[in-house]
Amino acid sequence: MDDKSRRDFLRGGWKLGGALLIGAAGYTGYEALRPLASGAGGAKITVGKTSSFATDTNTYVSAGRMYIVNANDYLFALSQKCPHLGCHVPYCESSGRFECPCHGSIYDLAGEYITGPAPRGMDRYEVTLEGDNVVVDTSVLKAGPARGAKTFLTPPKGPSCIGKA
Ligand code: FES
Repeated sequence: MDDKSRRDFLRGGWKLGGALLIGAAGYTGYEALRPLASGAGGAKITVGKTSSFATDTNTYVSAGRMYIVNANDYLFALSQKCPHLGCHVPYCESSGRFECPCHGSIYDLAGEYITGPAPRGMDRYEVTLEGDNVVVDTSVLKAGPARGAKTFLTPPKGPSCIGKA
């Protein structure tokens, strides 16, 4: 390869690298701004009577891939999907918290962020009461509370399921 063709080759490489960087930046911006995708099918789901959800308990609803939580008499419908990279976040009976086994994010009963790499608390669906029925609208998933929210934080009931404090 002579000097001129080497120079042309390198110049083309810089252009290609720049185009890839612009494409990656555009995709990242799109990912950050697009509405959250609902993993629950987008329907309104009647999940039970209000009396079915006792204070400070959670109930997994497989039809919506979500937890119905009664935290201090406030009802939440939490997406099972971790706001970090999307793993299914199980509830840890021994600690009384949601603990993600993938990278160690932990959330309190209301899905508020406690620790780990997640950018926020667990995402929530809208909950309404129709008479005595609890209805969850899975068409819109709202971003979970910011990291600083600790309204429902209580000490862990016992040991963590993923070995964290
Ligand atoms: S996917 Fe849950 S902490 Fe990474």
